[in-house]
Amino acid sequence: MKLYSRIIFPRLCDWVMSDPEMGKLRGEVLAGVEGEILEIGFGTGLNLAHYPSGVRRIATADPNPGMSKIARKRIADSGIAVDQRASGGEELPFEGGTFDCVVSTWTLCSIPEVGRAIGEIYRVLRPGGRFVFLEHGLGLDPKTQKWQRRLNPIQRLLGDGCRLDLDVPTVVGSQPFADVRFDWFEMERVPRTHGTMYRGVAVK
Ligand SMILES: C[S@@+](CC[C@H](N)C(=O)[O-])C[C@H]1O[C@@H](n2cnc3c(N)ncnc32)[C@H](O)[C@@H]1O
Repeated sequence: MKLYSRIIFPRLCDWVMSDPEMGKLRGEVLAGVEGEILEIGFGTGLNLAHYPSGVRRIATADPNPGMSKIARKRIADSGIAVDQRASGGEELPFEGGTFDCVVSTWTLCSIPEVGRAIGEIYRVLRPGGRFVFLEHGLGLDPKTQKWQRRLNPIQRLLGDGCRLDLDVPTVVGSQPFADVRFDWFEMERVPRTHGTMYRGVAVK
């Protein structure tokens, strides 16, 4: 793994993603999460402070050891036991039907084979289990989409593989979830290219 990915990007990401508007959104989507929980793309552990107080343990999957290292400090302060796995979402090291909830925030954009990862999320959920997501993605108007395509090369470089124009509803809808509900909105202080958000729950 390149130095930028392992050392610089985790610090940059931690700083950018600690934004209070993002924190508020984290708390809102995680409010109903319970049972056996898996968080993919755990990053630096910024969701830990926003899990409901009843959550005492979670499993996580993130392939970047630089992210996991920063996360360890937050884990120690959180009171939540975290089973950290160094895996990409494309190949989750868990039995099928293990989890009540799989959580993903600002992560699908960074997964190279995101279709495979959604398949894995579907596999590890138990029947009736929920995939809870909060993701940035494809702009709603052609002008935003055009700018997203233009900015993608630099975003991929600076954002360690992150793409701006992921069609989140289509990707989630590629698995046979029994029910998918989502809404979209634009973040207040972020340009539409980066701040068109998809927030939802897909039930297996
Ligand atoms: C923008 S960060 C978001 C981190 C965290 N989810 C948050 O909300 O703060 C994207 C995360 O996706 C992770 N990631 C990259 N490739 C991945 C993959 N193939 N599977 C799962 N996560 C991946 C990165 O290591 C990084 O932690």
